[in-house]
Amino acid sequence: MIGGLQACTTVAPSWLVEDVRHYLTQTPRQLPARALYDDLSSALFDAICWLPWYPVTRAECRLLDTHGGAILDAAGGPNRLVELGCGNGDKLRRLLNAGRATPCAPGRWVAQIDLIDVSASALAAGQATLTTLSGLRVDTHRHPYEEGLLEVSEARSDVDRLCVAFLGSSIGNFDPPGMRALLDTIRRAVRPLDGLLLGVDLVKPLPELMAAYDDPPGLTAAFNKNLLVRLNRELGATFDIGGFAHRAVWNVVESRMEIHLVSFRRQRVEVPGADLSIEFRAGEYIWTESSYKFRVDDVERRLQESGFEPVRRWINDEGQFLLVVALAQ
Ligand code: TRP
Repeated sequence: MIGGLQACTTVAPSWLVEDVRHYLTQTPRQLPARALYDDLSSALFDAICWLPWYPVTRAECRLLDTHGGAILDAAGGPNRLVELGCGNGDKLRRLLNAGRATPCAPGRWVAQIDLIDVSASALAAGQATLTTLSGLRVDTHRHPYEEGLLEVSEARSDVDRLCVAFLGSSIGNFDPPGMRALLDTIRRAVRPLDGLLLGVDLVKPLPELMAAYDDPPGLTAAFNKNLLVRLNRELGATFDIGGFAHRAVWNVVESRMEIHLVSFRRQRVEVPGADLSIEFRAGEYIWTESSYKFRVDDVERRLQESGFEPVRRWINDEGQFLLVVALAQ
C-alpha cells in the first residue's frame, strides 16, 4: 500500500471542515467516525484486522466464506453490489467467491460492483482486489455514504437488482439517531425487494471488548492518534500528538465502546483550516468514535423501522458476530 500512502492528501474535503467546526466545539468535544479514515489509517485498520484481539473481521470473513451462496440467494440474486466503506475489498471478494462456488452459483449473476469510501487508498485497494474476479465491472465513488448512495441510485438502470453491503459493524459507529438516518437513507436509495447485507458485532464479555479497542501492541492507539496527524496536515492544526493518550471506555448504559483522545495537560491548539482555537483542560478529551454492540432482536427491529424486512441471519458459533440479509419493503 506504499502507493496509497503517498497519496495522502494535504487538503481537507469540505465535509471534514464542517465536521471539525460542528463536532469539535461540542461538549464533550467529538468527531464523527468518518474523519478517522485517511490513507494511513486505512492501512493501520487493515493491520488491526489481523490482530488476535480484534475478532470482528475474522468472524465476519468466516461467515462470508461459508455462507456466501446462501447470502446472495437470500438477497434475491442481485446483479449489482454496492459496498459502503469498502476498505480493501476483501470481504466482497470472499462473498462472491463463495457465491460462485455453490451449485446454483448466485454469485455469477453479479456483474457490477460499486465501492463507496472516503479513503482514496481504500478505493484503489478495493478496486484492485475485485477486478481480479472475472466478468466484473468495478466503479468507485469517493464520497461519504450518503452522497455515494445518491450517485449509485441516480445512475442505475430499471433492471438492476441491487444489494447494499454494509459490513464490519460500521453501522455501530453511528449513534441511534444517526443509525436511523443512515438506514433511512439507504432505504430511499433502493427499490422494493432490493437487498441489504448488514454485518453487526454482538455484545460480548467486557475483557474481550476492551482488548479489541485497546490492543496491547497499540495499533488502535496509533489509528486513533492519526486523526490528529491528519488534522495537522489537512487543516494546518497544531496538535502535539504526544500530548494526547488513546483511551477505550465501555459505556454500559448505551452498550457502546467509546474511543477517546485524552489531553495530558492544559494546552491550546490552533486549527486555522476550520477557524478554531481550542483550549484543552488537563483530562479533557475528544470522543473520536463509538462502536455500539448489539443484540440480534435489536438490529432486526431497527431494520424494520427503516423499511427493511430481515429474511435470514447467520451468527458464528462463538456468538460474536451477526450477518443479516433484509429486503426493502
Ligand atoms: N467498524 C469498526 C468497529 O467498530 C471500526 C473500528 C475498529 C475502529 N477498531 C477501531 C474505529 C478503533 C476506531 C478505532 O469495530
